[in-house]
Amino acid sequence: MKLDVVFTPAGLTSQEVQGRTVFVIDILRATTTMCAALHSGARALIPVAATEEALRLAQTIGSADVLLAGERQAVRIPGFQLGNSPLEMTETAVRGKTLIVTTSNGTKALLACQGAGAVYPACAGNLSLAAEKVRETIDGGRRTLIVCAGREGAFSLDDAYAAGRLVAAALGHRRPRPRLNDEAIAALDLVRRYGDDWERPLRRSRAGRELLRLGFGDDIAAASQVDAYPVLPHFHERRMTLVPVAV
Ligand code: MLT
Repeated sequence: MKLDVVFTPAGLTSQEVQGRTVFVIDILRATTTMCAALHSGARALIPVAATEEALRLAQTIGSADVLLAGERQAVRIPGFQLGNSPLEMTETAVRGKTLIVTTSNGTKALLACQGAGAVYPACAGNLSLAAEKVRETIDGGRRTLIVCAGREGAFSLDDAYAAGRLVAAALGHRRPRPRLNDEAIAALDLVRRYGDDWERPLRRSRAGRELLRLGFGDDIAAASQVDAYPVLPHFHERRMTLVPVAV
């Protein structure tokens, strides 16, 4: 039994993800926003790496039910209908729509894990469901990996703390513990340091400070709400959709 965390997808090889069950965390804000969109009834999300690719794909699909969503430097991309805020993902805005999504770090992290056996986005908003799936994966003897999107290929406090919370929620007091790599141990140490208050490490992180500077403090509060978006989306063959919760 083994549970690994990596603080950044930079340098992840296809062998490292192949066949594994992977949980991707970009709590500020991509994976939070994705869970919010699907919780509000979006039909599917298609993460892509580049703005041009998003525009091209929207044109190819050519449907009024397709919306462009995403950010660069934390603000909405010109010409896109939606940014990357969980608070924008209301039922009125997204129900029945397919969203083509591109963000600075989050979509890149998801795309880096495409060769995995299964890929799930995780955040505070779906903590209980994600933790249950981590437990189920470990109990099923499958190799489990939590990938923090990080920031520009480096460690980010917000994602590392969220990874620690996911590990803690998944393992509880269970014994024997799966073997943890050093990053999983460090993520758990962050939970000990910051305790239960999600907003504190999120606001202290560089991503959080940037969002505060740009007036997105409400997004940090939304991203700190445990189980606010109780869905466990599945990223498979370039699409993210909901999987039935009972599976
Ligand atoms: C990212 O992918 O890096 C985040 O979406 C950044 C943000 O939310 O502004």
